[in-house]
Amino acid sequence: MKMEEARNMRERLRTIGLEEFVRENITNDKYSIRKIATAFGIRPYLPYGDAFYYQIVGQAMLRELARRQKLPQYNTIDDAVSLLQSKKNIMVITGAGISTSLGIPDFRSKNTGFYSQLLARGFESPEDVFDIENFDMDPRTFYELAGEILPVLDKTSPTHAFIRLLQDKGKLLTNYTQNIDNIEAAAGIDPAHLIQCHGSWATATCRKCKAQVPGATIFSDVKAKRVARCTACVQRLSAQQQQPKKRKRAPNSNSNSSSRSRGKHGHVYSDDDSDGQYDIPEPGVMKPDITFFGEQLPNTFFDRLTDHDREKVDLVVIVGTSMKVAPVSEIPNFIPKDVPCVYISREPVEHINFDVTLLGYCDDVVSELCRRAGWGLDHPMALKGKADVSRFDEGDGSRWKVTRPVESS
Ligand code: OAD
Repeated sequence: MKMEEARNMRERLRTIGLEEFVRENITNDKYSIRKIATAFGIRPYLPYGDAFYYQIVGQAMLRELARRQKLPQYNTIDDAVSLLQSKKNIMVITGAGISTSLGIPDFRSKNTGFYSQLLARGFESPEDVFDIENFDMDPRTFYELAGEILPVLDKTSPTHAFIRLLQDKGKLLTNYTQNIDNIEAAAGIDPAHLIQCHGSWATATCRKCKAQVPGATIFSDVKAKRVARCTACVQRLSAQQQQPKKRKRAPNSNSNSSSRSRGKHGHVYSDDDSDGQYDIPEPGVMKPDITFFGEQLPNTFFDRLTDHDREKVDLVVIVGTSMKVAPVSEIPNFIPKDVPCVYISREPVEHINFDVTLLGYCDDVVSELCRRAGWGLDHPMALKGKADVSRFDEGDGSRWKVTRPVESS
């Protein structure tokens, strides 16, 4: 199906609604289910029967109906500037792209992203490094690799300074950051206006006894690629070992009669351990309080979004994220449909409809936005002077390339 025809079909679904659309196009056999599937981005030659297609096309149509639609009145960089100037409750959603200028890799950029590098090194599914079940089974893979994404601590980028500027102007509703580098703290973002959706390196918790310590406590282990163990567990275990052991002696027993054999885990144990505790107790493994795949996001994320921000937000600015990870990727579809949405990143995203898309290095884009707004962006790495702004593609005129002029790059 041609792109134009597919777009018209999705438009038709939104205009006449699900029931009528199904009657018009599916019940009346106007199109085959596989052809309709292609309009919703589903490949028509998957090795499944039509029943499967009816099911996934149904889901895809519901998704389409829930998808935010572009607001036609906002298109240009100057529209984005006016929105920044006029709006008072701005939600900023950030991702790894706002820290790459500080030398921290993002995840999915070709060649340079952390996951892309892992793929090149033979890891078949790099996201498994952040899978909680894998971590609990064997934390060594995480500790082997985590040093590569350790935060730089006291450095900030111009984009962090931009978010701080919005805060200083009383316009920052909430910064939803997916970043775990905790650089927002160094930038002075007020914790009351910050949700660290995927946790951060700021603290670490023992998987066994739940003792929590400052994240920096485990940095030396991370740098040395050594699994960090819980010091609270270590102290407790050594205190237990120092306590005199009460030995129950069986009547008529003597030391020679106590047989020794090899236990189920290969540890040497004595018959005195007949209560079943054969394992030598080990201190727990420390895990940085990053939200791994398979773990719940912090409650503050859902509470703030649904009970506070959804009502208040009047502009969404999304910076330096591929918007590939739910539930953050669902935020634009969740907030009221008349709230404008500006997207700033190096590459365009097709699965979400934004109003204005500004493509380039985010530090340069925010510098240019501030220059046009007449706001001073106080950061040594901010672009001094004007950026070049040009149309990105022939589409609907809402995608722009923002680049440093050659002499200042
Ligand atoms: P991604 O790596 O998926 O996306 C980063 C985006 O930023 C990409 O689209 C890049 O093109 C863009 N980018 C990189 N550098 C940029 C720059 N200087 N200026 C503008 N854009 C730039 O990272 P996230 O979307 O943050 O989860 O990834 C989301 C989550 O996936 C992460 O929080 C992480 C990962 O699994 C955990 O750590 C638990």
